[in-house]
Amino acid sequence: MAWKRWSFIILFLLLGLPGCESRVIDGQQVNRKEKIIIRFSHVVAENTPKGLAAIRFARLISERSGGTIEIQVFPDSQLFKDGEEFEALSRGDVEMIAPATSKISQLLPEWQIWDLPYLFSNLESVHQVMDGPVGRSLLKQLEEKNMVGLAMWDNGFKNLTNNIHPILSPVDFNGLSFRVMSPGILEDQFTYFGADTVLLPFNDVYKALQDGTVQGQENTISNIYTKRFSQVQKYLTLSQHGFLGYAVVMNKTFWDQLPGSARELIEKTMAEVTLWERETAERLNEVQLEEIEKNNLVTIHTLTNQEKTQWKKDFSSVYDKFEENNDSKLLEEAQKWSEPKENN
Ligand code: LMR
Repeated sequence: MAWKRWSFIILFLLLGLPGCESRVIDGQQVNRKEKIIIRFSHVVAENTPKGLAAIRFARLISERSGGTIEIQVFPDSQLFKDGEEFEALSRGDVEMIAPATSKISQLLPEWQIWDLPYLFSNLESVHQVMDGPVGRSLLKQLEEKNMVGLAMWDNGFKNLTNNIHPILSPVDFNGLSFRVMSPGILEDQFTYFGADTVLLPFNDVYKALQDGTVQGQENTISNIYTKRFSQVQKYLTLSQHGFLGYAVVMNKTFWDQLPGSARELIEKTMAEVTLWERETAERLNEVQLEEIEKNNLVTIHTLTNQEKTQWKKDFSSVYDKFEENNDSKLLEEAQKWSEPKENN
């Protein structure tokens, strides 16, 4: 009879332990039912400004919420390629994404303003526009698509790579085919000079460059380095002609259902991580350019300031097209805010 008494005691202990049947034994001992899980999907490698900031954000939120909010980061198009991300967010398959501004412009065309070549003279001018009325009004527009814009992150300025010849001026685009991440301005800047464009998801670019589907592409040093584009390209022009940044967004229905305290923690932490992300982006682009130089696989041409001024003039038709199709006040406002601080 002793065995009966012992099984009764063991059963009693198991049932009697508080929350025994629902408590998940994870690192932080948080009841799974009480936990808020936020799946954050993005398309770039972990060793990039966006990849590292996503990890940092997840860690800080977990620490600060005592494990009650868990951000699960899925990098490198593991879950969804760009192009699929918006639908995944709206279906609720993920709660958070950080697409390039150019990709948002497929839903909200005024976001193409970020793609205008040489609109910003440096990162400071980018941040003034991001954090000023233009950035705020564009983030607000996301609500029309059931998204909430939590922040704007940097990658950096884009450069040109190709396999055929050095690009010293936009007329050298003639006859080449370039991968673009979005239609519109990004296509126009190439086709105006007689190039072809092919719209491809980020994850497909390396293969397309390698097998010759396209001969060139534009991207930041961070993306060129971490995705090894420089290993399958012969020429790199440090043109810094366009800006690549991101909006960090959540599904609005999900956001609205979060407790106020969770929203507050997320907003505060996001503001802090955003500053860190911007510094990291600048540093990574510098360090990774040194790595590309060391590997010595591409011939690099760096545009002078004078050449950049000429390129900006060459791209004037792209500005005209933007103004024809969008509210010209937005461009005026962005131009005003992109000037050095003392002029505002
Ligand atoms: C690209 O498609 O080249 C970039 O937008 C990828 C990214 O998210 O930086």
